[in-house]
Amino acid sequence: MSKIAIIGGSGLDVFSALSPIRSHQPVTPYGKPSAPVIEGRVGKQSLCFLPRHGTNHAIPPHCINYRANIAALKHLQVEDVVAITAVGGIAPTTPPRQIVIPDQIIDYTYDREHTFSDGLDNTVKHIDFSYPYCERLRQQLICAAQKVGVSAETSGTYGVTQGPRLETAAEIKRMARDGCTVVGMTGMPEAALAREVQLNYANCSIVVNWAAGITNGTIDLDKLEQNLKTGMEKVLALILNWVEQR
Ligand code: HPA
Repeated sequence: MSKIAIIGGSGLDVFSALSPIRSHQPVTPYGKPSAPVIEGRVGKQSLCFLPRHGTNHAIPPHCINYRANIAALKHLQVEDVVAITAVGGIAPTTPPRQIVIPDQIIDYTYDREHTFSDGLDNTVKHIDFSYPYCERLRQQLICAAQKVGVSAETSGTYGVTQGPRLETAAEIKRMARDGCTVVGMTGMPEAALAREVQLNYANCSIVVNWAAGITNGTIDLDKLEQNLKTGMEKVLALILNWVEQR
C-alpha cells in the first residue's frame, strides 16, 4: 500500500478528519517544512498532512519553502500526494465554489527556489514535465468527486502567479489568451519539485472568486473567504472519499 499525503492550502491549514498518531519535524537539506508533518489515520487509511502556509496560515505563497516541504514528504517515504489549492476562476466553466482537477500548468512565478538540481553535485538533471500531474491520481480524484456527487471540472490549466497580490485585469486577459482556466499562487514550483523526486502528485483546486476583470468591479475579499469556507466543505468530502477508496 503506498503512503499518501495531503498538502493543505488556504482554508485547509488543519485537517480535522485526521486522528493524529505522530508528528514529524524533519530538517531537510533545504531547511524546515512549513509545519510539522502530521501522520495519522482517517478510518483505516494512514496518511500524512502538511499545511503549506503553516499551521497558523502565516507563510505567504512566495515565502513557502517548497523544497523543504517536498523533501520532507519524500523523507517520510510518501509516494502519492494530493495538493489542495484555492484559485480564481478564469474560464466560464469555473465559477466560485467550482472544484477543478487541472491537467496542465503554466508557471508565471519568479525568484522561487524551484529545483533540487542546483548544480552543487556537479550534475545537470532534466525531468520530463509534459504532463505535470499524475494521471492515475487525477482519475482517482475525479472518481471520488462522482462518488460524493460534487461537480468537478476534470481538466484545466492552472496558471501560477507570484502573489501575494491578486492580478490586474490585463494580466488575467493575457492568461486567458495563454489558455489558463484558473489562477493561483502555490501550484509551482511544488508540482515540478514533486516530479523531480518521483512523487506522484495531483492537484484539487477550489475556485474562490472570479479572477480580476472577469466580472464587473473589483474582487470582494470577504466574499472570497466565504467561498473558501463553503467550497472547502466540498473538497473535504471529495478528499475523504478518495482516502476511503485507497
Ligand atoms: N488569483 C491568484 N490566486 C488566487 C486567486 C486569484 O484570483 N484566488 C485565490 N487564489
